[in-house]
Amino acid sequence: MMNADRYAVAGNPVVHSKSPQIHAMFGAQTGQSVAYERLLCPLDDFANTVRAFADAGAKGCNITVPFKFEAFQLAARRTPRAELAGAVNALRFDTDGWLGDNTDGAGLVGDIERNAGLALTGKRVLLLGAGGASSGVLGALIAARPAAIVLANRTVEKAEAIVARHRAFAEQHGVAVSSSGLDDCGEGFELLINGTAASLAGAGVPVSARVLAPGALAVDMMYGPAAQAFLDWARAAGATPRDGLGMLIEQAAESFELWRGVRPDTAPVLAALRQPQS
Ligand code: ATR
Repeated sequence: MMNADRYAVAGNPVVHSKSPQIHAMFGAQTGQSVAYERLLCPLDDFANTVRAFADAGAKGCNITVPFKFEAFQLAARRTPRAELAGAVNALRFDTDGWLGDNTDGAGLVGDIERNAGLALTGKRVLLLGAGGASSGVLGALIAARPAAIVLANRTVEKAEAIVARHRAFAEQHGVAVSSSGLDDCGEGFELLINGTAASLAGAGVPVSARVLAPGALAVDMMYGPAAQAFLDWARAAGATPRDGLGMLIEQAAESFELWRGVRPDTAPVLAALRQPQS
């Protein structure tokens, strides 16, 4: 594409990323001339790799594992939601300093509310894990005003630290946010979100099925094979399983809007990516 504005997903690995396909569809749909690539960054050379990309005239990038914390440090300015997340998954290379944003939480909430049709207001939410994935979405979950959110983690101290960082924001929104271990997180949640890496480690789902209310929605933030064990477990327990593909597309739409000022329609992209690959 001639003179297209360049963007990329920066990470390690990036070979399996669906982001180039998603942004190509957004570009075609909105008439925006964008070219979106994969930017494989050496584990010890993220900053220089992204700087070289920007120096070559690129306009911005998404950031994926394991560089979201480094991207936070690289940004000259950050949006309030990125500050709260403590991580950046989208950079815009403004000439007067890079802007860092975090679109993961809005992507997750958008997928749950718009695509899965579950309004979060007044619901009880259990969020599993206290790594970057959970930390990045807690603020957006609070902003959607559920009744309560429990952040449960194998290492309770890590959950406590994330909850402490969100305390004032939760109080502003009137949401009860607490931390717990995996055995004492309570029961009967209408929404369960898996932000642990347990399935990657082949360890199965680290909580009892009693955490699920009848008809609960159970969302894994991962997609593909990494989510399968959780989805199977949720289905067997009578919950509605949902993988992280919708979240991925919704966070991409938020990023696209940050860069282009135009909101793409995510529904046809989700439908296209849900087709079995031939
Ligand atoms: P990410 O940044 O992608 O979220 P991470 O920082 O490595 O990844 O976090 C992984 C999360 O999965 C952590 O909450 C981890 O629990 P600990 O904080 O106790 O380490 C959780 N996790 C990984 N393997 C797990 C397992 N087998 N059972 C329960 N939780 C697990």
